[in-house]
Amino acid sequence: MSQTPQQTTMSTTELGLAGGLGAALGGLAVYFALRRGGGASKVKFSMADQKKRFATAKKKNLKRVLDIDSVFEPSKLRGKRVLVVGASRGLGLEVAQAAAAAGAEAIGTVRSPNKDVSEAGLAQVIENVDVTSDEGMRTLVDSLKSPVDICIVVAGYFYGPVERLTDKSLNFKEEWKMIDICGIGPLRVANALVNNGRLREKGGRLAIVTSQAGSIEWREVQNPHGDNYGHHMSRACTNMMGRLLSFELKEKGIAVSLLHPGFNRTEMTKKYSEIWDEEGAVEPEVGAKRVLHEVNLMSMNNTGSFVNCEDGLLIPW
Ligand SMILES: NC(=O)c1ccc[n+]([C@@H]2O[C@H](COP(=O)([O-])OP(=O)(O)OC[C@H]3O[C@@H](n4cnc5c(N)ncnc54)[C@H](OP(=O)(O)O)[C@@H]3O)[C@@H](O)[C@H]2O)c1
Repeated sequence: MSQTPQQTTMSTTELGLAGGLGAALGGLAVYFALRRGGGASKVKFSMADQKKRFATAKKKNLKRVLDIDSVFEPSKLRGKRVLVVGASRGLGLEVAQAAAAAGAEAIGTVRSPNKDVSEAGLAQVIENVDVTSDEGMRTLVDSLKSPVDICIVVAGYFYGPVERLTDKSLNFKEEWKMIDICGIGPLRVANALVNNGRLREKGGRLAIVTSQAGSIEWREVQNPHGDNYGHHMSRACTNMMGRLLSFELKEKGIAVSLLHPGFNRTEMTKKYSEIWDEEGAVEPEVGAKRVLHEVNLMSMNNTGSFVNCEDGLLIPW
């Protein structure tokens, strides 16, 4: 599926979502067939303006955005071996916990021992897995006794203070750290798993949690004055890496998705807590189901997509 602006021609309303229940379900089916099918030619992009996006979802009562339980099918994860990299807290912990609750054999990695994850009902917790470390990757490979069906890389880092050139607040060391963790980290994980037979071929899935911050096209709306250089560069790096990886892993039958997890009320976004309500930030257990719903929809037909887990629509590069 290509991800070009020419695809922005069909709205959810045009697809029948505003009609009666039957029309709405029909519209939804067509919509998902279009978005997830191989031959989609008209697909709606998500909206760059997050405040407007949430207001629109409320106005149109879009269940996909407002009630993830109405579409998420946990049973699709039952019996799957699901690895969550970065499961110590926030979204990663909730993704691992929700996968376990869905009946998956959930495995979580952490950097250091952690009570929350050890009490989360996971089948296995692997410690000392830092995505910037070769040794951490060896520990990961050695601790997995058989291939996983699904790997979800959630680990990420967003430096606290705002970076602006004109304020003399750039922090190059932190910029490298974000690029190392968010951009190169998931590639290290993929390299370790795929080259050591720890991610199933022919049907395996690699979901990389990225961010809308990686969309260059959306900067004009979301950062019209520039700023936060390291954060945005690191996520553009994640997206480039994931897109390339999706091409390379086609021959192995491994699907790769780049997932923006939506706006979640976690440690990472506490600095934006004043806009949590108006921009639709959700508790991470809701965000986790949104991510797992998109993981359930991954296939070789949509490999290489950059998806907003809030509404299931594509984000332009
Ligand atoms: N929250 C949002 O609204 C939002 C929006 C867009 C994208 N995201 C992305 O979603 C992911 C989860 O976000 P969050 O809000 O849950 O963040 P968070 O609460 O800050 O959690 C970050 C997670 O990443 C792990 N981590 C950090 N550096 C690591 C490293 N070098 N190696 C391995 N693990 C590392 C942390 O482990 P430790 O406990 O060891 O530090 C923690 O588990 C991130 O990738 C983030 O960029 C979040």
